[in-house]
Amino acid sequence: MSTTSAPEGAVQAIEEGLARLGTSFRDAFASAPTEQALRLEYAKVLGKKGDLTAVLALMRNVAPAERPRAGAAVNAFREQVESAFAARLHAITRAVRDAELNARPYDLSLPGRTELGRGHAHPIHQVRDELLGIFRELGFAIAEGPEVELEENNFTKLNFPPDHPATDMQDSFWLASAEGARVLLRTHTSNMQVREMSTHAPPLAVVSAGRVFRRDDDLTHSPMFHQIEGFLVDEGVSLADLRGVLTAFVERLYGPGTPVRFRPSFFPFVEPGVEVDVGCVFCRKADGSYAGCRVCKQSGWLEVLGAGMIHPEVFRHCDIDSEKYTGFAFGMGIDRVAMLKYGVPNIRLMFESDPRFLSQF
Ligand code: PHE
Repeated sequence: MSTTSAPEGAVQAIEEGLARLGTSFRDAFASAPTEQALRLEYAKVLGKKGDLTAVLALMRNVAPAERPRAGAAVNAFREQVESAFAARLHAITRAVRDAELNARPYDLSLPGRTELGRGHAHPIHQVRDELLGIFRELGFAIAEGPEVELEENNFTKLNFPPDHPATDMQDSFWLASAEGARVLLRTHTSNMQVREMSTHAPPLAVVSAGRVFRRDDDLTHSPMFHQIEGFLVDEGVSLADLRGVLTAFVERLYGPGTPVRFRPSFFPFVEPGVEVDVGCVFCRKADGSYAGCRVCKQSGWLEVLGAGMIHPEVFRHCDIDSEKYTGFAFGMGIDRVAMLKYGVPNIRLMFESDPRFLSQF
């Protein structure tokens, strides 16, 4: 009897042991708050020193014939533990993730950061708009044109003969030619004279501002800079009209009484050509005398623009009758006006987009 009852008792002992563990591990898993705690509970059951190992020790009392039954019970139990563990692990991981997703990343009740401030136009664009605004008040229309230009609009029709030294003066950025036409980045905004005069009949009073490009690079020259061009064409326009318009412009820009001086100069598309100076905005005194300063190199004058009476050859290229019409044109560097206005010593600062610089305007 004992030979059969002992094994019989052993299987029962195993089954009872498993039944006991069966409720305790479920409670332990269910109340494990974290993944780490759960893994600890798991090890208590299935680990090397776990409860199941203790139950399995009873296996050696089981008769060989009963072993499959006992083994199946153990395997079924192991599977229950594994699946309960997996289910609880999933629930914990998901709870952690939900908590993360629901946590508010920002405290929306905090006051905003006022020190960020508002953006504003670039100083050169501010000055450009100011200059264009003055000419608009004086009755000029505003035109826009391309930065990539045909050689004929930039040079040829402006009376630059091929190989004229003036074309060397403006070391150009040439681009690949298109359909046999030579193309470059415009070296000045004077291309707008050709474009507007070829497409519109006088009377004309136009200003245009934009980027121009030359192979220059030093403290006061950048390979890309800005110009504003203006011209006026009608019957009976004279150099006196040019002087009148530029004086009105300069007084609006730098204040009433700011003197304007013309010096003879040369540009192939004007005749006569002039260089225009204004009284130094830095050292001119109220009584009209000058203290002399570094900016004007002690001369009392600042050179601000080139101008002149439009050359008859330019009119001819644009199909305008130079016997009937005359006109003046002028071109001015915007960057230089901006640098003088704000006292900026190095033109590169203008184009580096450093917020520490730009926020000062
Ligand atoms: N285009 C000339 C320059 O870039 C300036 C200019 C414009 C001179 C119009 C006369 C008339 O130097």
